[in-house]
Amino acid sequence: MSISTQQELDGICAIGRIVGYTLKEMQNSVRPGMTTGELDDIGNEMLRDLGAAPAPRLVYNFPGATCISINNEVAHGIPGRRVIREGDLVNIDVSAEKNGFFADNGGTVAVDVSDARLLRLCECSKSILDKAIAVAKTGIRVNQVGRTIEREARRNGFRVIENLCGHGVGRSLHEEPAEIANYYDPAYRKTFTQGMVVAIETFISTGAHYVVEKGDGWTYITPDGSRVAQYEHTIIVTDGEPIVVTAV
Ligand code: CO
Ligand code: CO
Repeated sequence: MSISTQQELDGICAIGRIVGYTLKEMQNSVRPGMTTGELDDIGNEMLRDLGAAPAPRLVYNFPGATCISINNEVAHGIPGRRVIREGDLVNIDVSAEKNGFFADNGGTVAVDVSDARLLRLCECSKSILDKAIAVAKTGIRVNQVGRTIEREARRNGFRVIENLCGHGVGRSLHEEPAEIANYYDPAYRKTFTQGMVVAIETFISTGAHYVVEKGDGWTYITPDGSRVAQYEHTIIVTDGEPIVVTAV
């Protein structure tokens, strides 16, 4: 969607804060020994208390309130009985709806990880997201975001996942522009317009450049076990600094 009224601005900012605080609370709650189902319950209850509906369930009938993906799982992991262990990379993705407005954000938590390369993977993915967000301005081609993500990943010795991407958001979970890729696609010629609401997400990988579906109908995994760190914010495009509505 594109913001054109104060009511729309207020609606997007409100749901942005809700998913932002919910993600933060879930990230702070991660402990070795807890199950992904218990972690999802924390998010589910917080969204409910704040008057929001989990978007994956609402839009896609996903079997969880949030997506929790561990290690070689990259996205759309189903919360359940799996126990979080020391050394895990736990990705949490929270998206929700309130009053007809949607926002989406995510982040990866390194649970007592000692592997320096994995810690650097997370730091890189997070800082690349900041750089990618700074690129998104009115009149700029959408593919410049992917160009930045790919360049920064390579510069740090990592790769990008090419078949997962950011997207428009606002009145639904996934809208136009449908593909804010993590690589440079010169054929994708859409531009950012004033007030456009988009979710930008970085999928930075230690090796694999694509994911495959695990066989449970939802979960995306790397085919070779390589690790991926994802970070995501929902932003409103302006001709200057974007408004990051999920930053709390
Ligand atoms: Co997301
Ligand atoms: Co998203």
